[in-house]
Amino acid sequence: NKVVLAYSGGLDTSVIVPWLRENYGCEVVCFTADVGQGVGETDGLEAKAKASGASELFIADLREEFVKDYIFPCLRAGAVYERKYLLGTSMARPIIAKAMVDVAKAVGADAVSHGCTGKGNDQVRFELTFFALNPKLAVVAPWREWDIKGREDAIEYAKKHSIPVTATKKSIYSRDRNLWHISHEGDILEDPANEPHKDMYVMTVDPEDAPNTPEYVEINIEAGLPVGMNGQLLSPATLLAELNEIGGRHGVGRIDMVENRLVGMKSRGVYETPGGTILTLAARELESLTLDRESMQLKDSLALKYAELVYAGRWFDPLRESMDAFMEKLTATTTGSVVLKLYKGSVNVASRKSPHSLYRQDISSFEEGSGIYNQADAAGFIRLYGLPTRVRAMQEQGL
Ligand code: ARG
Ligand code: SIN
Repeated sequence: NKVVLAYSGGLDTSVIVPWLRENYGCEVVCFTADVGQGVGETDGLEAKAKASGASELFIADLREEFVKDYIFPCLRAGAVYERKYLLGTSMARPIIAKAMVDVAKAVGADAVSHGCTGKGNDQVRFELTFFALNPKLAVVAPWREWDIKGREDAIEYAKKHSIPVTATKKSIYSRDRNLWHISHEGDILEDPANEPHKDMYVMTVDPEDAPNTPEYVEINIEAGLPVGMNGQLLSPATLLAELNEIGGRHGVGRIDMVENRLVGMKSRGVYETPGGTILTLAARELESLTLDRESMQLKDSLALKYAELVYAGRWFDPLRESMDAFMEKLTATTTGSVVLKLYKGSVNVASRKSPHSLYRQDISSFEEGSGIYNQADAAGFIRLYGLPTRVRAMQEQGL
């Protein structure tokens, strides 16, 4: 029997390879997804995986698919978890797990394995995807079974099995990076009263050190999906990478929060989402032109549910797909451009335009306009609209 392991080359997944062989007596096939965690990270990985005892390493470049089919739908939906989190890790797990199911089929494996702990969200996201796409696969989650307690134990274990690891014994952050974000958890962040150290950040400069001159960037959107910037069409992954650069140098997109994990506990995390923060604001600003009041209200209420599903690993639920159908229809006219101004950690709207704009200056202007709107009509509107308010007051005052 064979198992496909989600492999990063880090300490934990390096130790899992010999552990699986020792405890399950199976062949270990490693799989690494490139979701934009940074170039260099996949270099020399095959040799490393084999040195740990893997029979093979598969690497798949999922960057364009990740941005186009996972990130952009969430962006279009306006999905934000617990007021702040832009779901960077949550969106990556289902695409990685789906690719693992494909690899398992290709190599004839009957099991899959991951290096998530038993205390987090990621284990749920991986495993719900396995269930949804191939319910027959067995799942091995070593962190829930072995007696390795932390980094020191893991390093011990690696030494004993002569596995090459480059990690030091010093405690560091638990990080997860992809094209959308990097997350930081653990270490001093575990006390929510501690301010993050300046040198922890990876994708963004400290807003205090950002340029003293603001920078403008135009985002081009078609039917609710970003298509380019400054009038230039770009592929989804290229656009996002470019915006990460621009946002990063202005210190845009830092988020520090305490969130409720699916498994019940609270957890403190710090996220950097520079390009995503820019795109999120751009989409909202364009919708302010293209969506009517009730559409916007319903969309925003569904966005909460959408974010909850994605956070909880239920990407492949029909409910998420149905909500995407709704979002696609509702944002069909959300086309246009938004100019944003980046300055020392902030991003603000400067301009928005849409060929489908519902805003009409001839109606909304303080100047007398086209005659479509007659101010005298407002008197009757207010009398009827306020009728229940008047009736209640009359009742309360015995009139
Ligand atoms: N708390 C975030 C989430 O649940 C980030 C998790 C980061 N995962 C990791 N393996 N470092 O989505
Ligand atoms: C983990 O526990 O493996 C990372 C954090 C999370 O999944 O929430």
